[in-house]
Amino acid sequence: KTIVHKQVTTSTQHIAHQLARDNADHGTIVVADEQTAGKGRMDHTWNSPKNKGIWMSLILRPATLPYLAPQFTLLTATVLADVLTEETHTAPKIKWPNDILLNGKKIAGILTEMQAEQDTIQYVVIGIGINVNQSEQELPADIRHKATSLAIETGRTWDTQKLIQRILLTFEQAYDHYLKNGFLEVKHKWESYGFKIGETIRIKTMRETWRARFMGIAEDGALLTKASDGEMKKIYSAEIDWF
Ligand code: BTN
Repeated sequence: KTIVHKQVTTSTQHIAHQLARDNADHGTIVVADEQTAGKGRMDHTWNSPKNKGIWMSLILRPATLPYLAPQFTLLTATVLADVLTEETHTAPKIKWPNDILLNGKKIAGILTEMQAEQDTIQYVVIGIGINVNQSEQELPADIRHKATSLAIETGRTWDTQKLIQRILLTFEQAYDHYLKNGFLEVKHKWESYGFKIGETIRIKTMRETWRARFMGIAEDGALLTKASDGEMKKIYSAEIDWF
């Protein structure tokens, strides 16, 4: 598998999209020591200081459309949660859809972007950002109350290369398993790490705001809620208050 390593780049997502458009193979990986324009979901920026974390993007070429972008994000989240659990003996939670939390604060995020034409997915780029070795002072002041790093939570520094290796290996296994066996096992694993399952959350869409119980995730990766009248609803995109 090809690994493209950049000391510094704007965003590994940009590089991955460029490579994919130039026909890079399935499984191509882009890793950077530092990103100057790291991006998060919903136009947020992603702080990516030099050698302080894992900033990488994976190019996937799934055969056809049954592979849904939300499922890739959830699969990737379970991989990160597994690796953190096994390698660092921490107890990560996954906050739907894509945040990894340690002790209630965000330590990693996933950004899945895909290029689709008609019924075929041309490629998927999965961006993974993990705060590894930042000290508290090294986190941007405006996110300090809700973000953290592995070093902050464990009181020691970690070898990012080794973690990257574990992530890639675990991802490859989990991905093959998912293609062969479908999403159900991913769903169960995800739910075993799920943040606030069974609790009341508030859901805000453009049209309305309501409260419901967070039941887990659906077969297609949607968030599954149950209202007080018992009605089950699937949420694909909304702002969630987790209280
Ligand atoms: C989020 O939680 O909003 C997603 C964060 C994704 C950050 C990673 S870092 C590697 C890749 N390159 C980027 O510019 N973003 C993703």
